[in-house]
Amino acid sequence: MKLPARLLLVFCVFIIAAGYWLTDFDAHFAFRGDGRWKTTRAADPVNGKVLFAAGGCISCHASSGSDDRVHLGGGKPLKTPFGIFYPSNISPDLKDGIGRWTETQFIRAIRDGTAPDGKPYYPAFPYTSYRHMSPDDAADLFAYIKTLPPVAGNAPAHDLSFPYSVRRGLVLWKLAFLDGTVIEVEPHKSESWNRGRYLVEGVGHCAECHSPRNFAGAIIDAKRLSGGPNLEGKGTVPNLTPDKTGLATWSEAEIASLLKDGFTPDFDSVGGSMAEVVRNTAELSDTDRMAMAIYLKSLPPIEGQKRSK
Ligand code: HEC
Ligand code: HEC
Repeated sequence: MKLPARLLLVFCVFIIAAGYWLTDFDAHFAFRGDGRWKTTRAADPVNGKVLFAAGGCISCHASSGSDDRVHLGGGKPLKTPFGIFYPSNISPDLKDGIGRWTETQFIRAIRDGTAPDGKPYYPAFPYTSYRHMSPDDAADLFAYIKTLPPVAGNAPAHDLSFPYSVRRGLVLWKLAFLDGTVIEVEPHKSESWNRGRYLVEGVGHCAECHSPRNFAGAIIDAKRLSGGPNLEGKGTVPNLTPDKTGLATWSEAEIASLLKDGFTPDFDSVGGSMAEVVRNTAELSDTDRMAMAIYLKSLPPIEGQKRSK
């Protein structure tokens, strides 16, 4: 074996060993109770339904081959540069879904990317954004999901190439890239700006598609929301900042209107994954769509990628 190959092997063994150790570490210390999962009121499934739409859970977790908006059987292939993910069954089925989960286990999954058994989740599940939700909102989401019909059956195993197939390695990824927690209200800004920021940066996870990523698949913070690669293959995901390569000429009303009907100001309609997003944002209130538009228009302009036709 040549030296670089040997070094690579040692490196991989090290990563896997560190991953094992840290997973146990995570499981051990996770419940020390620093309040990260504490709720302050009774869960509200009506608010949960709004967050479910804003979060686009159905876009990934719908039962494979079904266009149904309430059956969360999972298994619809999600293609990424790292391989194909098959989102889990998150219906309240007692055997195959999350019917036996406690509220705390759910809050921990969605805010920390940690499974009930302590294993780390892949960030293809966008907990990197969802973690900005408050524990109360996460509990509301859980309460809503519990009202949906149980679906039997498991999603296939993910089809990932090495080293991404080593789940333990994700503990290190999380240590390196997972940051931020609940988005706090900025008192000197308006209520709609604060609501818009909460939706865009948190549960709406707009930056997950609309930003460039580094070699390890983490969002490059300085270029957040300035457009990203299109995983569906053609073109790019456009810049959402008010730069001339982005939404500079769009009014707040025009952005809000796209989130309702999918039409751009020049009467083109968005396609692909954004059409899916619009099916979800169409279920929100006009006030929430306008709040997102107000927040986007307030961002510092960053030069990025224009919408490609
Ligand atoms: C972009 C696709 C995507 C979206 C959107 C998404 N998920 Fe997921 N989710 C996944 C993937 C992929 C997994 C599996 C992760 C893994 O195996 O590490 C997952 C796993 C989960 C799990 C863990 C299930 C288990 O059995 O361990 C829960 C809970 C979950 N998602 C809830 C949600 C909720 C609630 C929403 C909406 C707020 C949501 N997800 C939105 C892709 C997504
Ligand atoms: C799953 C990936 C994905 C997510 C999540 C996503 N978008 Fe998009 N978005 C796209 C793609 C792809 C396009 C380009 C669609 C096209 O050109 O047909 C787009 C286009 C847009 C456009 C039109 C911009 C232009 O210049 O034409 C706006 C506005 C927009 N998205 C806002 C949002 C907001 C707000 C959110 C969060 C609520 C969001 N998007 C979440 C993928 C996504």
